[in-house]
Amino acid sequence: METCFKEIVQYIRTLYQQPEGNIPLHAPVFAGNEKKYLAECIDSTFVSLVGKFVDQFEEKIAEYTGAKKAITCVNGTSALHLALKLTGVEPDDEVITQPLTFVATANAITYCGADPLFIDVDLDTMGLSQKSLSAWLKDSTYQKINKSTKKNDTINKKSGKCISACVPMHTFGFPCRIDEIIEICNTYKIPVVEDAAESLGSFYKNQHTGTFG
Ligand SMILES: Cc1ncc(COP(=O)(O)O)c(C=O)c1O
Repeated sequence: METCFKEIVQYIRTLYQQPEGNIPLHAPVFAGNEKKYLAECIDSTFVSLVGKFVDQFEEKIAEYTGAKKAITCVNGTSALHLALKLTGVEPDDEVITQPLTFVATANAITYCGADPLFIDVDLDTMGLSQKSLSAWLKDSTYQKINKSTKKNDTINKKSGKCISACVPMHTFGFPCRIDEIIEICNTYKIPVVEDAAESLGSFYKNQHTGTFG
């Protein structure tokens, strides 16, 4: 295991031509007018949640990704939190996600008062495994009629809790098999909230990630 780990580190060092020291996971890139726009923003006094840069950002993101609409949030955690609330996740529910992710995914679930339920990832995509998801839902859940909605809920046999959403994530920009995941979730009536925080610029079958769920 240790030899394998050393080999991976060596490979990354060769790739980044950095024989020693830390190689950052993400590094910010300032390639143009950032300082100018920041000064413009301060001069305009629109430094909070409204202003022409916010509108422009939302429009450009929607145009680039092909999403119907883009809305800015303070950070990715709050965007996921909002999406889960809008999906109908309630305290004491369970939400499926993957163990290989940034902590924001699980944090957003717990902010709803729900518990994250971790299903394995695939080796090739590093995203939620559609095979493991399908097998787990088949073996470990049952359907129960919800008295208020009159619709079937998917219940975890072990905990007795309702599974109210599924949050797959596109790890390091590699798209997971999102279409197959959605198809499986649809059969169990589980809404999918796609965490595309790491995949701006990634397309799956010619469609931008984040526009599926
Ligand atoms: C998978 C994933 N989800 C969500 C986020 C959003 O995190 P934050 O609340 O720090 O913006 C990140 C940030 O990198 C992430 O990698």
